[in-house]
Amino acid sequence: MKGLTCLGVVALCACVAACGSNGEETSSTWTTSSGSGSTSDGGGDASGSTTTSSTGSGDGPADAKAFFMKEVHPTLLDTCGGCHITGPGLSFLAEDAADAYDKARSAPGIVLKEKSRLLLKGGHSGGEAPALTSTQTDVVTQWLALEFANAGGDDPPAGDPPALTPLQQMQAFGNCMSYADWTKYELVNLANEQVIYQNNAVPCLSCHGTGQSGAYISDEPIAFFEASKKMPYLFKFANATLTADGTFDDVVNANRFVEKCVENPMVGNPHPPCVNGQIDTQLIQDLQSFFEDTKKRWAAGKCDEATDPPEAE
Ligand code: HEC
Ligand code: HEC
Repeated sequence: MKGLTCLGVVALCACVAACGSNGEETSSTWTTSSGSGSTSDGGGDASGSTTTSSTGSGDGPADAKAFFMKEVHPTLLDTCGGCHITGPGLSFLAEDAADAYDKARSAPGIVLKEKSRLLLKGGHSGGEAPALTSTQTDVVTQWLALEFANAGGDDPPAGDPPALTPLQQMQAFGNCMSYADWTKYELVNLANEQVIYQNNAVPCLSCHGTGQSGAYISDEPIAFFEASKKMPYLFKFANATLTADGTFDDVVNANRFVEKCVENPMVGNPHPPCVNGQIDTQLIQDLQSFFEDTKKRWAAGKCDEATDPPEAE
């Protein structure tokens, strides 16, 4: 089987140390196309080269950029920056105004002539995220008008709407995981499943409790949940498949916690064998149900129904 090579995608670099010895992955190619590919004119990818655009339109109209930096950026940074720079929400902002402009233009669904998600979103995140104020709605509307003014007021610069890249789809899927499901299926029980290591039964958490060796399996439910929502640990739950032309096709169950116990061990550096040759059968079902429930919500576009963990840490 192919090992997952840690590809040149910035968001996956955290994976380099952990993934080098992965046994197998259901999808080993999609990440290579997940950069700026499908937002052909989104201002380049979010990784920030200043010379990414050769098309002209990728930089956006100069007046629109200036307006964004002066009027839109400060106010959105204040109200939305807490959750939209590195997450948990879609990353469409940055501390730096010029960076924020590039990110806003490359994030899916933001720079649209009509139906910009900025304007449509309203309050969210369980009431913690406010809707835009009327002043904010005004400046965002003015900015978007400038974005389209030069295009004869016609075509949206980034396609309408730009298809999400596989990486963005995965991120959306992770954000669609619900803490209510997590506790309902008691997935935290995985932490105390066991392998045989040096003639002792050892729980998964003893080697993976804080994300070591490519898996995050903790008996602390919130930490385990939060880690599982994001790359690279998300890949232990879900993976993306691609169409023949390399665009996103679907999300499938990666099922790594189950497979790890039943697949042929790697030669040379075998994973310790699971007690009974598999994890608990109830847990196998619960992992499956958790995936299916998440996928249903995601496919229905109802990720706002996913619940967050209670305030803690
Ligand atoms: C307390 C954290 C928080 C704050 C503050 C916040 N958001 Fe969000 N936002 C989220 C989370 C979490 C998601 C992903 C889940 C969802 O879509 O509700 C999200 C998703 C989004 C999305 C993309 C998903 C979609 O449905 O289109 C947009 C657009 C968005 N927020 C806009 C805003 C704007 C504009 C502000 C500021 C006025 C803001 N958010 C403030 C947490 C926040
Ligand atoms: C004694 C230490 C140890 C214990 C205990 C342990 N693992 Fe691992 N695990 C490793 C090491 C080392 C790796 C990296 C090499 C590899 O992938 O086999 C790994 C990697 C993994 C991976 C990520 C790579 C992949 O193939 O997706 C998963 C998933 C995993 N283990 C699941 C489990 C589960 C489930 C348990 C409990 C039933 C468990 N591990 C218990 C040592 C351990």
